[in-house]
Amino acid sequence: MAIRFEEEKRIFILETAGSCYQMQADEYGVLLHLYYGRPVKGTTEHLIHHEDVAFSGNPYDLSDYRKYSLDVLPQEFSSCGVGDYREKSVELAYADGSFGLDLRYQSYEIHKGAYKIEGMPAAHDEEGKSETLIIHMKDTVKEVEVDLYYGVFPRQDVITRTAVLRNVGEEKVTLYKMMSANIDFQYGEKDLIYLPGKWGMERKVERTYVNHAAIHLDSRRGTSSHHMNPSVILCDPLAGEDAGECYSFQLVYSGGFQISVQKDQRGTIRLCGGIQPDQFVWQLNAGESFIAPQAVLCYSSDGLGSLSRKLHRFVNKHICRGIYMKKKRPILINNWEATYFDFNLEKLTGIAASAAELGIEMMVLDDGWFGKRNNDKCGLGDWFVNEEKLGGSMGALAEKINQMGMKFGLWFEPEMISEDSDLYRAHPDWALTQPGRKPNLGRSQMVLDMGRQEVRDYLFEQISSILKSANISYVKWDMNRSISDAYSAALPVDRQGEVYHRFVLGTYDLMERITSAFPEIMIEGCSGGGGRYDLGIMYYSPQIWCSDNTDAINRTSIQYGSSLFYPISTVGSHVSVCPNHQTRRVVPFHTRAVVAMAGSFGYEMDLQKLSEEEKEQVREQVRLYHKYYDLVHEGDYYRLTAPGKASFMAWEIVSEDKKEALVSVVITEIEGNRCPRWIQIKGLDPEMQYELEDGSVHYGSDLMYAGLPVAPALKEYEACQIYLKALI
Ligand code: DGJ
Repeated sequence: MAIRFEEEKRIFILETAGSCYQMQADEYGVLLHLYYGRPVKGTTEHLIHHEDVAFSGNPYDLSDYRKYSLDVLPQEFSSCGVGDYREKSVELAYADGSFGLDLRYQSYEIHKGAYKIEGMPAAHDEEGKSETLIIHMKDTVKEVEVDLYYGVFPRQDVITRTAVLRNVGEEKVTLYKMMSANIDFQYGEKDLIYLPGKWGMERKVERTYVNHAAIHLDSRRGTSSHHMNPSVILCDPLAGEDAGECYSFQLVYSGGFQISVQKDQRGTIRLCGGIQPDQFVWQLNAGESFIAPQAVLCYSSDGLGSLSRKLHRFVNKHICRGIYMKKKRPILINNWEATYFDFNLEKLTGIAASAAELGIEMMVLDDGWFGKRNNDKCGLGDWFVNEEKLGGSMGALAEKINQMGMKFGLWFEPEMISEDSDLYRAHPDWALTQPGRKPNLGRSQMVLDMGRQEVRDYLFEQISSILKSANISYVKWDMNRSISDAYSAALPVDRQGEVYHRFVLGTYDLMERITSAFPEIMIEGCSGGGGRYDLGIMYYSPQIWCSDNTDAINRTSIQYGSSLFYPISTVGSHVSVCPNHQTRRVVPFHTRAVVAMAGSFGYEMDLQKLSEEEKEQVREQVRLYHKYYDLVHEGDYYRLTAPGKASFMAWEIVSEDKKEALVSVVITEIEGNRCPRWIQIKGLDPEMQYELEDGSVHYGSDLMYAGLPVAPALKEYEACQIYLKALI
């Protein structure tokens, strides 16, 4: 049983293989957070103690008992306007202008399997090994109820959470903030790890000690964004890759978000996360409810590496969906960096033919095939094939590619509209713009009002008819700007604060319709590379173009940051030309392939222009991709170095049975009078003997504890792969 309720003490116990989470509905009905950490045998109500804390007031019904204050007790879902001065989980107002929410426990339900969230992505569980707890809470005065959901996934040490707020009264309720979850860590020092970034340099890793200064990590861009990923880790300040307690918190959400962390006056650290409250105002009429996006929590007592591996397994099994979670992903060639908008049938078939000859399995036609889209200033929304440019129909092009033995994929950017498009001329009100004000443009484009059914119907019809017209196996779903001017011509004045979230819901709805109608097609998410690299998008598209930056050296750190939370299978990663189009850096061809192989592999260049020697290298890379596919996609990922901490980056993938491992090393900088480079390999069986490709044989213990010198001859930006196979 993953979920237990100790009736007498009113304690809820959520248990996974390596974690335990406890909470108690106390005698006043306040739902207190008791404990989250390593499995414990008993209950932990002894951790709660009451003290008279000056300037931390007491609920009226307990006013004779000054030792009880909502301001200091650890809570499961913090209240609003009734004396807890820390971060609120909810902010609202009633018709009479009052704003209090003081939730008290009513009842609970326990179910087998994972809960669903209507209209939003949520962790799924086909095997029915998870359990769901729903705790019903109600305000002490107003007709408002909150249900707290907990999904327990025992094998991956994951607990999911969400909250539903219901207006069960007669009057309107206005919501200004509705978080998915808060967690109060009553004691202990913590570091916060998070992933800031920018376009082309996403998911850098920052780490800071949590103190009394409030930390608000967020995106106000309407998307989860390049600038901050909706994922954090709270850990012991001494925690590292292989030791220390770590807790991760991630949102299954692709819109603007906020995650805040702060130590309070008495040392409790509150983590609170959910939809970005800035510009969020949601009206709840009588009988209506609002559900927050799901949050995913994971715990590891053994450091960041183990935490990441649990998350990788969880994302692969319980977030990503579709046939490509089991089916081998084809190596693709994408024409974007080879041609940009400047292509015709001859160029495309030339690239495809050269790719087919080298063993590449799918050709993806990127931006520029529709409407009058010959540059990035026009055409978005006009999803009509430009047959003149393609020298015929999409079906005919796909057939030509198929005849070469390759699958065919196509780029779309559904959520956008260009001012210079037939769609905008016909429906100017479909673009998000404020009355009387010219909108802010991003890449010269505007954002479609995805909250509108007719907009989504138009997109579904157009996209479907193209997908039906040709043998298309893959769609790259792009989104190339931050959202602004979030005003909908279709909503009344008092509902404009709903536009950002309605946009996200509308996008999810369209993604759901397309993935259900075309289950054979794999969607690769993209938002100028990694601008929506989140669990919400991964629910619809099992891989995401990780960054527009294909510079292999920069990619080692982008992929390092991504690996904290996301598995290799989700990382779209390509070999591109040098000098690199983003950084102008020149990196050996082999290195580019070694880095791209730590992801869903492909090429992004005109292969016709390669020398014979380079073509031979591509053939070899294709061979290695196939050789290592199962290991890379199903194995356990280990970070062996961190960016900036060594003169090289190294990572490793070990098969579940520990009989195979692949270590990749990239030299990121070179210095005079260089010291030898060593790595301690991880995750092997200490008793097993492993053979390296140079014929040497070592015990796992020797490779892990003593280590291995790394190819001393490697020069700047060179790379190697070390393949280890157990002798059995
Ligand atoms: C941004 C993407 O990240 C690129 O790969 C490419 O698809 C362009 N958009 C096309 O406009």
